Amino acid sequence: MVIVLDFGGQYTQLIARRIRECHVYCEILPYSTPVARLKAINPKGIVFSGGPSSVYAENAPVCDKEIFAAGIPILGICYGMQLMAQMLGGNVSRADNREYGKTLLQVLDADSPLFKGLPETLQVWMSHGDFVAAPPPGFKSIARTENTPVAALGNDEKKLYGVQFHPEVVHTPQGQRMLEFFLLDVCQCHADWTMESFVEQAVREIKEKVGDKKVLCALSGGVDSSVAAALVHKAVGDQLTCVFVDHGLLRKDEARQVIQTFRDQFHINLVAVDASARFLNKLKGVTDPEQKRKIIGNEFIRVFEEEARKLGEIDFLVQGTLYPDVVESGTDTAAVIKSHHNVGGLPEDMKFDLVEPLRWLFKDEVRQVGEQLGLPERIVWRQPFPGPGLAIRILGEITEEKLNILREADAILHEEIIKAGLYREIWQFFAVLPSMRSVGVMGDERTYSYTCVIRAVTSHDGMTADWARIPYDVLESVSSRIVNEVKDINRVVYDITSKPPATIEWE
Ligand code: XMP
Repeated sequence: MVIVLDFGGQYTQLIARRIRECHVYCEILPYSTPVARLKAINPKGIVFSGGPSSVYAENAPVCDKEIFAAGIPILGICYGMQLMAQMLGGNVSRADNREYGKTLLQVLDADSPLFKGLPETLQVWMSHGDFVAAPPPGFKSIARTENTPVAALGNDEKKLYGVQFHPEVVHTPQGQRMLEFFLLDVCQCHADWTMESFVEQAVREIKEKVGDKKVLCALSGGVDSSVAAALVHKAVGDQLTCVFVDHGLLRKDEARQVIQTFRDQFHINLVAVDASARFLNKLKGVTDPEQKRKIIGNEFIRVFEEEARKLGEIDFLVQGTLYPDVVESGTDTAAVIKSHHNVGGLPEDMKFDLVEPLRWLFKDEVRQVGEQLGLPERIVWRQPFPGPGLAIRILGEITEEKLNILREADAILHEEIIKAGLYREIWQFFAVLPSMRSVGVMGDERTYSYTCVIRAVTSHDGMTADWARIPYDVLESVSSRIVNEVKDINRVVYDITSKPPATIEWE
């Protein structure tokens, strides 16, 4: 295993993912992790991330100096390299001009393990203000750029290296090779971390933890809870019971697909509760978005709790927590681990231990595990779908009639996007029913029907988003199919607002 020490850089998680893409397992720890703890973990190598600070800043994050004498190979990236250079007696200076963006790198030591077999001139991505003016004793500059005399440095004997550029970003096309050289040649890691080996190990650990006890899982049909459930089921079979609450606000055919996958295909004990009437009843006359969310959230917990109680004593609860939620970050000075005990406020008297089999994985790795376990593509590649479901895609009061109209329109959009081969390019796409009617003409008749909004966005994390440039001909088929096939819609509009200022959802 390899440790990524986090100095607060924006790419820390990306570094970890790149290392795992080399089939080497790694974890992220805060820069302040004591050397004793690192030694106890006994990693084969350590990577220092970048960070926003200057090494001369007052509260610049600094690691334990003993790290350099622990005999563990280290690769410092950007701030990580500057810190290493400064702590070991080199000289770091402030540059007159920030170096930012794509830059050409001139390799000075073609025999360095970092650049072995690569061309002498490489494109790299830079983003820094400070630079290493003189490497520490025992180190030499192994690459330079026009403005930076020490763009990479190394001490082969101590196996300490640094790069001023970012090998983890795509703008450094050979970056992944460099990381691989460091991991495999310098650290002598074995590239044996695969999703297959992850599944085997996770199954062993779940079995060990759960023993012959009973496990409960709230299954939503989303990627995380589905993969977690399938994994736990592989480990403990019928000791697992999944509860799937259908609040009646799901997309067309979604509930049936979840039930069919988990009950019929995976033979998992599945309690499927059709609570749609109950939710609709609670939502009657409610138009305020926040109130809708609250009602749905509360009711969901109530239904789940009722079903869980019917199952008698339960010892463990499965959670689909992912690694980004549990990473101890170098930017949290207190380095608290955020914990996600978030089934949503289950009552105090229901005591469970948590089983979180995905807590070491990134989202894309969870998808790979899902594929490994044989989950269908529509679940593994499912888009983010909000807990309150279609309730926040129908503006105003929610009725069965509007839900059905929206489901039909949304299903057509789905089919057309898949047909156009755009599914994985778009972060989320869906139909919205603003409960607004307009006049149209169909045949010789005047119509007065609903308008349907198409919302489609590209995004990396849902925090910001851009409206998706769906080709006009695709939009045309979507629009013409919706107005022809969905009786109560006579107009289709496309939402061309980014986030911010709009949000992805309409409520
Ligand atoms: P917004 O609309 O805030 O959405 O731009 C950002 C992302 O979060 C999802 N979303 C939710 N997910 N419960 C959820 O589980 C919610 O109440 C909720 N509201 C929005 C949304 O689909 C998008 O991916």
